[in-house]
Amino acid sequence: MDIKKPFVVGAGIMGSGVGQLCAQQGLEVTVADISDELIQKAEGKIKAGLARRIEKGKISQEDMDSVLSRMNWSTNLDIAGECDFVLEAIYEDLGAKQELFRKLDSICTPETILATNTTALSVSEIASATSRPDKVIGMHFFNPAVIMKLVEIIRGDNTSEETIETTRMFAESLGKIPITTAKEAPAGIVSRVLAGLLNEAAAVYADGVASPEDIDEAMKLGAGLPMGPLALIDMIGLDIHLAKMETLYEKLEDERYKPPEIIKKMVAEGKLGKKAGEGFYKY
Ligand SMILES: NC(=O)c1ccc[n+]([C@@H]2O[C@H](COP(=O)([O-])OP(=O)(O)OC[C@H]3O[C@@H](n4cnc5c(N)ncnc54)[C@H](O)[C@@H]3O)[C@@H](O)[C@H]2O)c1
Repeated sequence: MDIKKPFVVGAGIMGSGVGQLCAQQGLEVTVADISDELIQKAEGKIKAGLARRIEKGKISQEDMDSVLSRMNWSTNLDIAGECDFVLEAIYEDLGAKQELFRKLDSICTPETILATNTTALSVSEIASATSRPDKVIGMHFFNPAVIMKLVEIIRGDNTSEETIETTRMFAESLGKIPITTAKEAPAGIVSRVLAGLLNEAAAVYADGVASPEDIDEAMKLGAGLPMGPLALIDMIGLDIHLAKMETLYEKLEDERYKPPEIIKKMVAEGKLGKKAGEGFYKY
């Protein structure tokens, strides 16, 4: 089944990025959030990003206009009933995601796949809130969604092969390279492997070994990373990183995944990273 009308819930970093990606690939997309204010903020960021690309000579004004004309914004979830694929990208909170999936299950046609962009929550637990666990799947984009090539496809215990195949083909139609996990797996591949590196960088900072700038520069020059680990945590969002660590620690019962105190402290102080104006760096 070709996906023609996707619906994205959550106009934050990931949802608005995936919405923009869909529109850039020629699809009519709707991105939903809970308030007009949040929607205007997300739309403003996308417009500003596209305007910068015009200034750099990468796209034309017509390109920008045509992308924006395919992006619809809404606070009304009922529109999901007219769409053929839903991607959820709201807060990393199981209760909130289950409540949303319950609503989507009652709004969407029985054929509609309900995908979650969760970083680490259980796809099966999210699916349990619906009457269609075979059509619930993890579709994990990376930040920035427009640029990053990988989409991890994470199965729940009851996800059907047909759902996996449709989601894989949808990812490819968006110009991405999908990699599918062999089983339900908290945090999939990349986020789990990265967790240790990011925590260790935070621990090196908390121990006073070096400044964020020096830690990041050292990791770029010495480990060949494209960006420093602390700048990456800021870009991901410290709240998202913390939620991921809490899930990994709970599910895998391994001390390696214990959420670092420094991250908990910074989240409590509202230092959530780039989106909040301050994390390890000020923006
Ligand atoms: N930030 C990353 O780098 C990254 C990468 C991959 C996956 N993820 C995952 O993607 C999801 C979203 O992360 P994010 O960084 O975009 O978060 P974010 O905080 O930037 O955005 C979340 C958005 O969801 C909206 N929202 C919350 N409840 C809603 C509801 N019931 N209906 C509609 N909108 C609702 C919020 O208002 C907010 O605008 C999370 O599950 C996260 O773990 C994040």
